[in-house]
Amino acid sequence: MPIPLNVCFLWPGTNASIPAGWARETLVAASQWPKGAAAGVDPGATGGAASHTHTTTTHIHTAAHTHTVPNSPVGSGVTSRDTGTTNPPLAHTHDTNPNTVNPTVDLTTEAPSGAGGTNEISFFRVIIIKSDGTPTGVPDLAVALWNDPAGAPTSWNLCDGGGAPARPDMRNRYLRQAVAAGDGGGTGGALTHTGSISSHVHNSPFNHGHPTVTSSQRTQADTVGSIGGALAGTATSTHTHALTIASAGSSITGSSDALSSASQEPPFSTQAFIQNNAGAADWPDRIIGLWMQTLASIPTDWTLCDGTLGTPDLRAVFVKGANVLGDIGVTGGSLTHGHTATGHTHAALAHTHSISEAAGAGENRTAGAVNAPTTAHTHGWAPTGSTSFTSGSTTPVVADFTNTQPLFTGAAFIQWQAPAAAGYSGRGIGRGIGRGIMR
Ligand SMILES: [Fe+2]
Ligand SMILES: [Fe+2]
Ligand SMILES: [Fe+2]
Ligand SMILES: [Fe+2]
Repeated sequence: MPIPLNVCFLWPGTNASIPAGWARETLVAASQWPKGAAAGVDPGATGGAASHTHTTTTHIHTAAHTHTVPNSPVGSGVTSRDTGTTNPPLAHTHDTNPNTVNPTVDLTTEAPSGAGGTNEISFFRVIIIKSDGTPTGVPDLAVALWNDPAGAPTSWNLCDGGGAPARPDMRNRYLRQAVAAGDGGGTGGALTHTGSISSHVHNSPFNHGHPTVTSSQRTQADTVGSIGGALAGTATSTHTHALTIASAGSSITGSSDALSSASQEPPFSTQAFIQNNAGAADWPDRIIGLWMQTLASIPTDWTLCDGTLGTPDLRAVFVKGANVLGDIGVTGGSLTHGHTATGHTHAALAHTHSISEAAGAGENRTAGAVNAPTTAHTHGWAPTGSTSFTSGSTTPVVADFTNTQPLFTGAAFIQWQAPAAAGYSGRGIGRGIGRGIMR
């Protein structure tokens, strides 16, 4: 009795070395991952994606900053003086002025996209090979699935990279079909990945104003002189200027944000990948292969791995290679995943604001004044000090939990359950006994 037509196993070697009686099964698309077909669904359906992206919720930053107000230039505007006055025009300045503080405001909200990643889950490339109906066993060096943690069949070994010649190391790796007409054996992918939120800015330029400032009192002391020979008295020339701070814009620089590492493992069931090291074709009881035809046409004595009749339930999951036989049966993974962001700020570039001023009061003398001049004046204030600042830190929330499945083709995993008949290495009889005798 040969292995039935179209029953598949895994070939980790080259295309040229596919054994006689076996051919490539191309119903699992090139470079795709075979995934257990959902309950009641025939093999062959495809799905998944090569990569994924994430989106973020909106986020906002606060912005607050202060500018210094410079000392004023010397005032001007004192013009006409009383005849005969000895009280000179008083040149003065206003020094040590209050700062102008910008109230805390929010920059605009933004929702930058979160850079995604590849869905290329850690893989080991194999050529999925199918029987032409003539082989008397699984070829030497072919790989099968195994779900008994008590031990592998005689002359079969866990694909852990050991042995000479070395077995394929398929631990912690997922099955991936070779590229079209290509060889088995390559590895790649990853179990986790990171990412970043794309660079973005918030309302740049950040147009804003600052509140009006009242300048300091004039700095110089009054002078006392005479007018027409009489003491003029102290000028009541203390005064301030209302300083209006003009609106200005500050460029906001772009920032991105690092994303935490996240698992990208799709739903999986851990099974052992074991290699036939018997040196010849071999066909142990309870070995598991693949089936790409209809569920209804699964051959006699081969059982769909659906959790019944002692089979593992490999429907709707990807198969992950066990590190050790004891890992068989471990399940995990998820259809989706998310990341958390680190948090970021934005820099605002240096900028100034021009200052316009209200005229200051004149030096109206109080005593002995004759024709006291009205000496309202201005100073021609220079702009505020140049200021840069850093926005408040914000941690965007990566809201999108994106499907993480790699490109897959649905497959049925089927287990050979030898009939409990004389000469078969049937279950309960002891693996390895009678192998090769009756097939
Ligand atoms: Fe991701
Ligand atoms: Fe931001
Ligand atoms: Fe400003
Ligand atoms: Fe002044």
